[in-house]
Order: sequence, then structure tokens, then C-alpha cells
Amino acid sequence: MRIRFKKWARPEIAASPFCMDDAFALAGAWRSHFARPEQPFYIELGCGKGGWVSQAAVLHPECNYLALDIKSEMLGVAKRKTEAAFAAAGRTPDNILLAILNIERFSEVLTPADGVDRIYINFCNPWPKEGHKKRRLTHPRQLRQYAAVLRGELHFKTDDLDLFTESVAYFTESGWEILTQTNDLHADEPADNIRTEHENMFTEMGKKINFLIAKPPAEAFGKPVPNLHAPDTVKLLRGLEKQHGLGILTDEEFEKQKQQILSRTQEAANGEGISLEK
Ligand SMILES: C[S@@+](CC[C@H](N)C(=O)[O-])C[C@H]1O[C@@H](n2cnc3c(N)ncnc32)[C@H](O)[C@@H]1O
Repeated sequence: MRIRFKKWARPEIAASPFCMDDAFALAGAWRSHFARPEQPFYIELGCGKGGWVSQAAVLHPECNYLALDIKSEMLGVAKRKTEAAFAAAGRTPDNILLAILNIERFSEVLTPADGVDRIYINFCNPWPKEGHKKRRLTHPRQLRQYAAVLRGELHFKTDDLDLFTESVAYFTESGWEILTQTNDLHADEPADNIRTEHENMFTEMGKKINFLIAKPPAEAFGKPVPNLHAPDTVKLLRGLEKQHGLGILTDEEFEKQKQQILSRTQEAANGEGISLEK
């Protein structure tokens, strides 16, 4: 989703009591920033302009919500939308937090101690090109990060059938159990479904909405996740991908070396956070 630069976004986020400036500093301590820390803790990944999370948090004061997005412009709009939704309901935003985060770094910010009860992925970017698929928020390397901290379910909605079909395979291959699955959510829309901005837009265009609920494998909870953003790992993996791309390494040799690097990384300390994609 494209969004114009908004000069006001960063200062407004910095001044807001429910926008968290440094998500990394809150790892393991998210709950303490809600008025009622003991409530179920739900996270939306890629919240965009916040249409969904602002409605959900107003409708469900008995749950706590954290909404994450990579773009400050999106979060700025989400912040204003949240303020408006709570003001209309005569409440202060005490069960919602917003933060900027590249979700590829999820495991550096959310830990098993945070007690995550549910994750929502609403209309994430489909990344259709083969070389870009690992950026999908449902890619197995992401699912591994979620499974390490999630004690409940993940809810996923998308208009994109290819992304959905391939994601079903990602979940299954990663040992998740799919509890519910439909290619037309609105055919029998659940009374509690909250439509997102993209859901409304795609529905108006006549597209069907795919939806699933999945549960992570219990044994994945608390398992350390390789930090793919540690600078050494990034460098090694990039070199390996280049050799593979040039045909110097066979698929088998590439996979073997990659697994070796990843298992070494798992034991290594956290790096300084260079994106593998840059
Ligand atoms: C297509 S929009 C969907 C927005 C909203 N969930 C909806 O349904 O209307 C995808 C959102 O995900 C965010 N996003 C994409 N990649 C991300 C990443 N790696 N980390 C965090 N946010 C990301 C984008 O900035 C954008 O706001």
C-alpha cells in the first residue's frame, strides 16, 4: 500500500501515550503497558491505517491489542483513527498500543514471557515474485518466529488466492494445525468479523475474502529462533545466495550450507539488525 510522507506522523507518534517509541526495549514487558495487564493479548501484524485494530479495541475492552507496522505514516494515521474511535465511544485508549516494527524482526520484540494469545494478519502484501516470497508475513521463517511465542491461534485474511493457497502449505509444512479455512468469508460472514480497510476495498471490487485460523505446534513454544538479521548471518547468506544464483552450488549443497549457517546463528548472540532484504 502506498502512502504519502506525513511530516506530522513521527512527532505525533513520539508524543502519544499509546504509541511505543522503541519496540525493542519492551520485549518481555508489553503487558505492563496496558491498564489491565492480565487480559488476553492480541497482536495485529501490518495494521496499515488502523481501521481494524481501532474498532476491535473499542468493541473489546476485555482484550489488549498491539498493532505493528513498518511505516510511520501508517502508524500516524492509525494513531489518529484510534483517538477518534475511542473519543466517539467516550473512552481513553487503555487497551491498545501501536509500534513501528519490521515484522521480520518479530522475535526480537515479542518473547514467550509476553503471553501472546492471538495474532492477526490482515491483507499482508502478497509478494508474488519467487525471489520475494520469503518477505511474506506467512512465510515459514515468519511462522517459526510466531510459533515461539504464541500460545493461542493465528487468524489470517487475504483477497489473494495464490498467497492464501501457498500460505496453507506454509502452515501445514511448518506443523501448524488449520482449524478453520474458507475461500469466501463473506458467504456466511461471522457476526464478530471486523472488516479492515483492504477488506472493504477488495469486497467492493467483487473479490472474495480467504480466511483461516491456525494453531502452532505446541513443541515450538519457547524454542529459540535464528536471528536472520545478525550482520554476520546476513553476509553469509547473501554470499551463499549469490553462489547458488550463479550456479556454483547445487540446490542440495546450498540447502546444506544454509542450514549450517542458520543453526550456528541460533546459538549466536543477537546482532545489530541489518535487514536481509536490503
Ligand atoms: C496491504 S496493507 C494492509 C493493511 C491493513 N491490515 C488492512 O487490512 O487494511 C499491508 C500493511 O503491512 C505493512 N507491512 C508490510 N510489510 C511489513 C513488515 N515487514 N513489517 C511491518 N509491516 C509491514 C505495510 O506497511 C502495510 O501497512
